[in-house]
Amino acid sequence: VDFFLLLSQTRLLLSLSPCKNDTVRILIDELQPIKARYRVPDVLTGEPQCEQLRVERRTEDSVTLSWSSGRHQVRVWHFPFRLELLCDDEVMVTFNSKSKLWFEKLRDPPRKTSQDETSSLWKETFQQFVDVKANGPSSIGADLCLHGFNHVYGLPEHADSLQLRDTRDGEPYRLYNLDVFAYGVYSRFGLYGSVPLLLAHKPDRTLGVFWLNASETFISNHKTFPYLPQDDQTPSVEKRCLQPETDVHWLSESGVIDCMVLLGPSPQQLFSQYAQLTGYQAMPPLFALGYHQCRWNYNDEADVKAVDAGFDDHNIPYDVIWLDIEHTHEKRYFTWDPVCFPEPARLQQYLGYKKRKLVVISDPHFKTDPDWSLYREARDGGHFVKNREGDLFKGLCWPGESCYLDFSSPATREWYSRCFGLDKYKGSTPLLFVWNDMNEPSVFHGPEKTMPKDAVHYGGWEHRELHNLYGFYQHMATAEGLIMRSGGKERPFVLARSFFAGSQRFGAVWTGDNVATWEYLKISIPMLLSLNVTGIMFCGADVGGFFWDPDPELLVRWYQAGALQPFFRGHCAKLSKRREPWLFGEEVTAAIRSVIQERYCLLPFWYTLFYQAHTSGVPPLRPLWVEFPREESTFAIDNQYMIGGALLACPVVERSVQEVKVLLPGDDECRYTCVFFKSKVQTQSSLFCPQGAADGELYLDDGHSFNYRDKKAFCLRRFSMHSGRLRCR
Ligand code: NOJ
Repeated sequence: VDFFLLLSQTRLLLSLSPCKNDTVRILIDELQPIKARYRVPDVLTGEPQCEQLRVERRTEDSVTLSWSSGRHQVRVWHFPFRLELLCDDEVMVTFNSKSKLWFEKLRDPPRKTSQDETSSLWKETFQQFVDVKANGPSSIGADLCLHGFNHVYGLPEHADSLQLRDTRDGEPYRLYNLDVFAYGVYSRFGLYGSVPLLLAHKPDRTLGVFWLNASETFISNHKTFPYLPQDDQTPSVEKRCLQPETDVHWLSESGVIDCMVLLGPSPQQLFSQYAQLTGYQAMPPLFALGYHQCRWNYNDEADVKAVDAGFDDHNIPYDVIWLDIEHTHEKRYFTWDPVCFPEPARLQQYLGYKKRKLVVISDPHFKTDPDWSLYREARDGGHFVKNREGDLFKGLCWPGESCYLDFSSPATREWYSRCFGLDKYKGSTPLLFVWNDMNEPSVFHGPEKTMPKDAVHYGGWEHRELHNLYGFYQHMATAEGLIMRSGGKERPFVLARSFFAGSQRFGAVWTGDNVATWEYLKISIPMLLSLNVTGIMFCGADVGGFFWDPDPELLVRWYQAGALQPFFRGHCAKLSKRREPWLFGEEVTAAIRSVIQERYCLLPFWYTLFYQAHTSGVPPLRPLWVEFPREESTFAIDNQYMIGGALLACPVVERSVQEVKVLLPGDDECRYTCVFFKSKVQTQSSLFCPQGAADGELYLDDGHSFNYRDKKAFCLRRFSMHSGRLRCR
């Protein structure tokens, strides 16, 4: 259904479409823009299928529409304009409840910019940077009131609590992908990735608001708590406030308003609705759920072999060793340092004998070097981002002066994917997997250390329109490259630092450059929970902390926490001391060994959870409220969580702590099993099941190919144990 809106002389077109999966899409664009406005492509996996709308009621002021069973309705109020979403005649959400709908229309540039009184709107200055806006300011915004809700979550990536805070006392949440050096904790400042999905939960309903926009975005939340009026004099408008509500205000720099309300009502239904829109978590190869060993850098082939042998000597299992930027020939990705890594294919075979893999880094910037054939190919193929004058955009990164691949172009993505071909990528073998870093993108001397907003991409789009998609597209092209090199047979593994909604389809992400302190260990838990509830499920934090050096107690605690998180990798910065698990004495080695061994014991469980995520959209890491949606005591908890529906985890994140208080929600004590990490150096898990009853699923396949999908070559069993009988279906 289309409606026209007149907003400060800008004629807007509102399209309202209920979709098949209990999602209502609200799309607002200029009716006749001077040119098309940017609509985020490639994030939705298809055009959502719409339901047929019926007019239920019409009054002078409003029209009420319904669809399918008629349980849900939308009421459109003409003036002041607002939309109400109802379920069984109760209003759940009001769009434009606080009249913050905002839409700046595109304009042709003024003739004499310097004298023009609006010139400041066309040119923004930030430190030494000048941002010229091709069509003037073009921001859009809207508010939604979520009736009955005061627990809201989502909007990663922020180093903050799982529950979103009321922003009246400070900054709004910012979604703008940035490479932030040693980011601060408890901050709403934008980090490496963005998912513009907000979840709201109350005992009988979970809702989602998905704001599909890839430009810089700010979100404020104002919570109103219920109160009873004191006396009869209370104005009637205040009397209405007998239930909590949250006003959410979104403001984006450009694009269109494309807002999807996901109606739940259960957390599981909401996850499924979101996965139907943006895609399911990719099924990782089994090895990727094991332990990964990384540092910036393992210096040469001998170093890699020595670390590899260290794991065997100390009887510590691991699956993957990683090479950071120094493995390349002077920071040219897809090359190898000829002195330190003269025989990379043999190194991979060496690891392969033990069924281990190698991951190498591949960043989005290319050293500006006309003598390098890959640079020339990219330049001549038109694969680099341009500046506003139409020349190659050049920025500084690890190699010095660099050009940046324009992954928003399908042709560039295809070219880049082919660079991973085994014939093209010399020294690579099928045992080599990839790490995309610095893809916010990071530009050392750029504004806020990123690309200027007026840089120009494929199709003539300004960078401002698609900034938050840059890493998403590199991740997509890399994963596609690994699939292509195997002739479509093998599952890829790609870790990316930057991400957007939908990145779950391409692989894993991690939380970037944390610091080796207790507070970063602590914040990693809500950070990873926020990612999980917004679809980015294969995620982890650098175990041990990236910058600085952890003391042995912190290191052990970090391994204990990391072993209970989806992506489990030890990593550290160039200046940090060596910290392989056996370097701190036998007690520490033993503690880390048993943690990693426990991880491997649980590997079939993790794998099954990933299969469930891949097929139903439910995350492996779950805030307690996801499993116990009616228990309000769980709504604010973010130091403990569920792994699937069966394990409750509460990692120790404070120094010298030997005991933690754990909330055990649910009246059915038998529904979960606890893993205890008993003391700082001793790890022990104990399984208990007081009533002798349990059930669960197990998924198995070959662990690496797409045969589970293409040939249905897998096994999925449900086991249940009741009254001493074990059944398998
Ligand atoms: C920044 C990444 O976050 C870090 O993990 C990596 O080691 C360095 N870049 C060097 O590549």
